Amino acid sequence: MACDILYLMKPASKQIATLRNRLVELAHLQSANALLQWDMAVNLPPKAGSHRAETLSHLSTLVHNHFLAIDSDNLLTKLKHKLDKKELTPREAVIVSETWRQFDRARKLPSSFIREQTLIIAETHRVWEAARAQSSFKLFQPNLEKIIDLKRKEARFIGFTKTPYDPLLDMFEPGMKTEETAMLFHDLKGSLIALLKRIQKSKLYKTVKPVQHAKLPREDQKQFSRTLAQKLGFDFSAGLIGESTHPFMISFHPHDTRLTTRYLDTNITYSAFSTIHEVGHALYEQGIKAEHFGTPLGEAISTGIHESQSRMWENIIGKSLPFWQHFYPELTKMFPVAFKKGGLPEFHRSINRVAPTLIRTEADEVTYNLHIIIRFEIERDLIEGTIAVGDVPKIWNEKIKEYLSITVPNDTLGVLQDVHWGDGLFGYFPTYAFGNLYAAQFYNAARRSIPRLHSLIQKGNFTPLLTWLRSNIHVHGKFYSAGGLIREVTGKELSSGDYIDYLTEKYTKLYRL
Ligand code: CO
Repeated sequence: MACDILYLMKPASKQIATLRNRLVELAHLQSANALLQWDMAVNLPPKAGSHRAETLSHLSTLVHNHFLAIDSDNLLTKLKHKLDKKELTPREAVIVSETWRQFDRARKLPSSFIREQTLIIAETHRVWEAARAQSSFKLFQPNLEKIIDLKRKEARFIGFTKTPYDPLLDMFEPGMKTEETAMLFHDLKGSLIALLKRIQKSKLYKTVKPVQHAKLPREDQKQFSRTLAQKLGFDFSAGLIGESTHPFMISFHPHDTRLTTRYLDTNITYSAFSTIHEVGHALYEQGIKAEHFGTPLGEAISTGIHESQSRMWENIIGKSLPFWQHFYPELTKMFPVAFKKGGLPEFHRSINRVAPTLIRTEADEVTYNLHIIIRFEIERDLIEGTIAVGDVPKIWNEKIKEYLSITVPNDTLGVLQDVHWGDGLFGYFPTYAFGNLYAAQFYNAARRSIPRLHSLIQKGNFTPLLTWLRSNIHVHGKFYSAGGLIREVTGKELSSGDYIDYLTEKYTKLYRL
């Protein structure tokens, strides 16, 4: 039977089937690699760290070499010719073009360069930890200089026409350009600073309190997180929730998608919102078609689109009034002392409290993207070589002052707070902001096609929204590019308009502007 099918296949389909088998084998190796990473973050005994790092490094090299061998018989090159001559079906075209894009990038980086970069990043991570503990950028500076050199080199290996930042950004947000990012952020920055000033002038500004409770039992918090995940649509038969210091989501397959959360004794909103965020990522992975495992049709589009899913659930839905009209009574039942009946309006205002902070991960929705814009402006200028590494703390502090009107007291609370640069992640920060912009645009499209969405949310019925996200976004894998998807689903290009409108409407009500 199998032979008959092969006999009937056109030559391109036969080649695609071979390519697919190779990609699936690679994906299994990557699953094993990812499982070791999960285990490292969730279960690792204290002494096992360096052994695990070595295992991961060997396995990563193996995966990389295996990937480069994918074209050893020119199979991929031949398919690329067919792609260029438009001889492939749309789905085949996606498999080939995306595999080619990744292959082309990988083969341009010499293995000696990858080894050097891996070693320096491992060393820099340790130096960053020490520098942050001592609040000394000077200690970090020589290593950051080495990393910037390596990143500029990487950009030259890959190639670019306008700016070396383009190929770095492209790694996380394929197709996005530095120039377009700068334009998006320019609009966003002006509107956010103006909105922040209006909120700060409002009578309510000083009266909104942060969320604070007495000690809440860990087991009850866990139960509440599970309830949230379940109601939003997380499939516990195809995933699980663990615990780690830094919450994250990892997926090996649509049938094995895991997330972690973290519990703080005094603040249930910490675990609640980090659970909702990671569940948002997980719902995306669970919604990808298992039959496409290993191929680009079975992969998420980009870091920014992934983040749009987590941020839509966490912020647009999870911090909305209808959402808590459903869940607040549950909190009252579980923790009657901390959450009083009738306390919903105050609770809702508290979870949306606007207050400029030095720390990005603690920022509210209005100021969060300003933190991202600062990082983008600095990292782009570093990669383009228009600013010196030694000037970064000064530039950082000036920008925090200019955009957020607060003063940075030391490097730990300033330029040394994030792990990204020390880990060689340049071009990653902007995707957090893209996620917010995509999320607002997608959510508006969902509202247009789901009647009475807010009253469904108020009733705790998230199925229509998840079904919409599944069929419009999740199911496609990489069939569309990020730009293609946003046009297809929302009918327009990515812009900051919907996001700014969303924030303005929400905070005008909350702060009675
Ligand atoms: Co995320």
